[in-house]
Order: sequence, then C-alpha cells, then structure tokens
Amino acid sequence: MLVVSFWPTSRARKAEPLSLIHETACIDEGAVLGANTRIWHFSHVYAGARIGADCSLGQNCMVADGVVLGNKVKVQNNVSLYSGVTIEDEVFLGPSCVLTNIKNPRAAISRRDQYERILIRRGATVGANATILCGVTIGRHAFIAAGAVVTHNVPDYALIVGVPGKQEGWVGRHGHPLQALDEDGPARHSLGEGGVFRCVESGLRYREMEPGRLRCIDLDEDAPLKAG
Ligand SMILES: CC(C)(COP(=O)(O)OP(=O)(O)OC[C@H]1O[C@@H](n2cnc3c(N)ncnc32)[C@H](O)[C@@H]1OP(=O)(O)O)[C@@H](O)C(=O)NCCC(=O)NCCS
Repeated sequence: MLVVSFWPTSRARKAEPLSLIHETACIDEGAVLGANTRIWHFSHVYAGARIGADCSLGQNCMVADGVVLGNKVKVQNNVSLYSGVTIEDEVFLGPSCVLTNIKNPRAAISRRDQYERILIRRGATVGANATILCGVTIGRHAFIAAGAVVTHNVPDYALIVGVPGKQEGWVGRHGHPLQALDEDGPARHSLGEGGVFRCVESGLRYREMEPGRLRCIDLDEDAPLKAG
C-alpha cells in the first residue's frame, strides 16, 4: 500500500507504485491508496479514507473519512461516499449514484453521531442514478438497476429494479439477468421456486438453494472469473 502524503500540482502524474492522480484531485495527507489506483479530475479523498489497489475513481467523486474501498472497485463520475460506507472488492458504482448516511437529516440539527452504515459486498453493481438508503447491505454480485431506490437489504445475485426497489430476478456474475433452465432446456420456473438458472454469456449455472438464496454450481463462489 502507498500512503499518500503529498501530491505535487504538476500535470497528471504517475506516483509510485503506479497510482495515477490527476493534478486537480485533492488527496489529503494520511489517505491510503493501493497500487495502480487512478483518481480523476476534481475528486477528493479525505485523510481517513482507505482505497485498495487497481481501483478507479472518476471525475468529481468524494471519499470521506473512514470509508473503505477494496481492490478493483470502479466508481464512476459524481459519486460521494460518506462516512459509514464500506465497499468490497470488484464493486461497480454507476455514475451519479447516491449512498445516504442519515435517515432524518435536518440542517438545523447535528446528527454527526448518527451516521448509519452501508455495506456493498464483492462484485455488486449499483446502476446509474440509483439511491441506496442507509442501514442497508447489498449482497455479493447483486445488481441494482439504473434509477432504483434500495430501501432493504439485498440478497446475493438479486436484481433490484424500481422505486421502491423490488427483486425482479437473479443476475449472474457476468451481469446478465439469469434465465430459468430445465434438464431439457429453457423452463418456466421463476423467482422463489428453487430451480436452476443460466447465464446467457458464460453458460454458468446457478441454483436457488432455498427462496432468496442463489449459488453458482459451476464455479466456486470465491474463484476469479476467467480473464477476457
Ligand atoms: C436492469 C437492467 C440490467 C435490465 O436489463 P435487461 O434485462 O436487458 O432489460 P431490458 O432492456 O430487456 O428491459 C426489460 C424491461 O425492464 C425495464 N427496465 C429496464 N431497465 C430498467 C430500469 N433501470 N428501471 C426500471 N425498468 C427497467 C424495461 O423498460 C423493460 O420493460 P418492458 O418489458 O415493460 O418493456 C438494465 O436496464 C440496467 O438498469 N442496467 C444498468 C445500466 C447502468 O446503470 N449502467 C451504468 C454505467 S453507464
């Protein structure tokens, strides 16, 4: 890990070991950035933030004190990560998505001691312009559709759509809604019926072990996806 203490205001530059920080970004002394992490124009990383390796933080992003990002996290433009947020490895945060940290904000009342947490688990995607209410955990490889408002915990692999967000199906690790599958081919079972589902891109199969719990049956849950 590279501990950032000072960034010269020269042009965008590479700093050891291979992190790329644009000259307009503001990295407070004490912030921790992993190797090969890129931070683009006008973004601000506070002193107590920890960002892993191979991450990308787009334009106009903010990472507050105490926020932790794992490795290979992609944060698109205009995303603010307030205190109380933890993001695991390989999470994708779409442009202008919003993660809240106070349930009843009032300008006239300080609620600094009432920040609630958000945990976004490995491999999950939050679509463009989605809003996540505080106190919520988004499960591994879950997919929040563009514009959805998430008000409750989200199971692993769940596809959440709409306002308020509802589970419309399952999504595989490649990000496609999964198709129901029988031994003989396509089937008609749907969410909560305990069947097998398949990814159109990878062919990986997933089984609903019980209502609300999906697992991949062709690839170990912790195994990396094949490159390319
Ligand atoms: C949720 C999502 C994965 C669905 O993909 P899909 O299954 O291929 O969806 P389709 O385009 O076939 O649409 C299926 C239906 O869902 C609706 N739908 C699709 N996305 C939706 C969304 N985000 N919110 C509400 N409804 C949505 C479509 O209108 C369509 O409805 P219809 O059958 O009544 O016409 C995709 O639309 C999405 O939101 N992706 C995130 C994109 C994003 O934020 N990218 C960020 C980087 S730029």
